[in-house]
Amino acid sequence: VTLEEARALDAADPLSHCRDRFRLPSGKIYLDGNSLGALPADAPARVARTIEQEWGNHLIESWNRHGWIDAPVTIAAKLAPIVGARPDELLIADSTSVNLFKLLAAAIRARPGRRVVLSEEGNFPTDLYIVQGLQRLIPDLELRTASADCIDEALSEDVAVLMLTHVDYRSARRHDMAARTAAAHRAGALALWDLSHSAGVVELELAGCGADLAVGCGYKYLNGGPGAPSFLFVASALQEQLENVLSGWMGHAAPFEFDAAYRPRDGIGRFLTGTPSIVALAALEAGLDSFDGVTVAAVEAKTRALTDFFIACVEARCPGLALASPRDSRNRGGHVIFAHPGGYAIVQALIARGIVGDFRAPDQMRFGFAALYNRFEDAWLAAEAVFDLIETGAWAQPQFHRRSRVT
Ligand SMILES: Cc1ncc(COP(=O)(O)O)c(C=O)c1O
Repeated sequence: VTLEEARALDAADPLSHCRDRFRLPSGKIYLDGNSLGALPADAPARVARTIEQEWGNHLIESWNRHGWIDAPVTIAAKLAPIVGARPDELLIADSTSVNLFKLLAAAIRARPGRRVVLSEEGNFPTDLYIVQGLQRLIPDLELRTASADCIDEALSEDVAVLMLTHVDYRSARRHDMAARTAAAHRAGALALWDLSHSAGVVELELAGCGADLAVGCGYKYLNGGPGAPSFLFVASALQEQLENVLSGWMGHAAPFEFDAAYRPRDGIGRFLTGTPSIVALAALEAGLDSFDGVTVAAVEAKTRALTDFFIACVEARCPGLALASPRDSRNRGGHVIFAHPGGYAIVQALIARGIVGDFRAPDQMRFGFAALYNRFEDAWLAAEAVFDLIETGAWAQPQFHRRSRVT
């Protein structure tokens, strides 16, 4: 595979114009959209407008005048085509962890007599930690985990919720959402999907799959900025049946009547808790706007082509390196894992050369490909750098072994 081939693929890429929608530092190849997406070019002005004009000039009036109070719903509407849901089934609020708590608690309460949350072994830790926290409140609650291939068999009659991460944060293995949701429903359970590594990466049809509940990060492929608020989805048919136990005033039917008793809003708004984070929402809106005019089918097609190309480049140059992601791009998300015992140091050495990926313990080098701004050329150059580091052993230098708090 040659650099010329990579450049020819870039020249033929129907999404190549989207790269200009981002401010990418020169001299860097950024393959870490799965931990923090790049800065949308419009985000600084969008955030400055919120701060200077809205907050600065109109102060408290802005809640009405600039629609701040409805921002969790109006901005969520921009996510609807990305995840295949109706706008009134989506909300932007809180972190993914907090939204998991709200939706899991609601789902468990909606399935009285069932005491199991079924999840996958090796799921992202926060998903499992939130269930462990709920176990302290609901003493007979069981957290059961099964391997990805054994989920259906583990769906016994005592399962209240099946909670799966659609694209695994390490392997990038992609679940068949329609099939697993149908299996959960056959067992009488609700299906809750974590879409943190799926939204803005692969085609999603939450409504078409009959999914009940979903959550996902705003700061990864949606490019919402560090600590961006997360999104949640509740199927419209379920909204009136479910209760938000984090029953804060923003989910109240009439927050400005200051009633002593909680009374939930109709619809998706009841899953709000406290005051929305307006500045952060402004940045996330710029991130969602970077998908303007782009179909998720085109995003998925490019994601699959880019990741296939990267795998081909790495395997051609480094035949000894083990692919730890599914080989078939239909079963994969937007990142690729190669395992190596020196993985941490290799990733640090790559970063020193301006090629940014990340590392997931124990030995996984993770390279995320964002269809809106990554190029085939980036994939080729990154593979060459991996080859060079391994061939020369340059990664073994002591400075690349020093561990930072965030990997
Ligand atoms: C699958 C998955 N779920 C949840 C999270 C954490 O989300 P938050 O920090 O918004 O709670 C992550 C973070 O990487 C993730 O990968």
